[in-house]
Amino acid sequence: MRIAVLNGPNLNLLGIREPEIYGTTTLAEIESHLEEVGTELGVTLLFSQFNEEGRMIEAIHNCRGVVAGALVNAGAWTHTSLALRDALTGVSLPFVEVHLSNIHAREPERRHSWLASAALGIVAGFGAESYELALRGLVRALGGAPTGAR
Ligand code: DQA
Repeated sequence: MRIAVLNGPNLNLLGIREPEIYGTTTLAEIESHLEEVGTELGVTLLFSQFNEEGRMIEAIHNCRGVVAGALVNAGAWTHTSLALRDALTGVSLPFVEVHLSNIHAREPERRHSWLASAALGIVAGFGAESYELALRGLVRALGGAPTGAR
C-alpha cells in the first residue's frame, strides 16, 4: 500500500521555524522516522512539500489511482484554502489532517480548518509525533495494518 505525505508552506523550515511552537525536529528527520514506521506497517511512503498552492493541488490530483491515502499538513492553507479541500474530495482521497501544534489552542484565525470536514481524522498538538500517530491511524482505517500492529 502506498501513502502520500503532503506538506504545505513553510514546513521545509521545521527545525529553525518558531521552535517553541513547532519543536526542533526537521522535516527530513520526520520523514526518516516515518520511513521506519512505514516499513514496520508494510506501507510505502511518498513524500513532498510545497510552497506554491497550485503545485500542491496538482500533486493531490496525481495521487488518484497511485496512493491509497494521504497524510496532509497543509500549514496555513488549512485555514484559507477551500481549493485544497476540493482537490482532496475531487479525487476521493482518504486523508488524515496533521498539525504539529494544537491549532485549536492558538490564535482564532487558526481554529478553523477548511480540510477537517473531509478528513478521516485529525491529529494535532503532538509535535513531530503527530505524523506517526496519523500514519498509524490512517493505515489502520484503510485496513492495511494487522490487528495489534504497533
Ligand atoms: C501547522 C499549523 C498552522 O496553523 C501553521 O500555519 C503551520 C503549521 C502545524 O503543523 O501546527 O504552518 O499546520
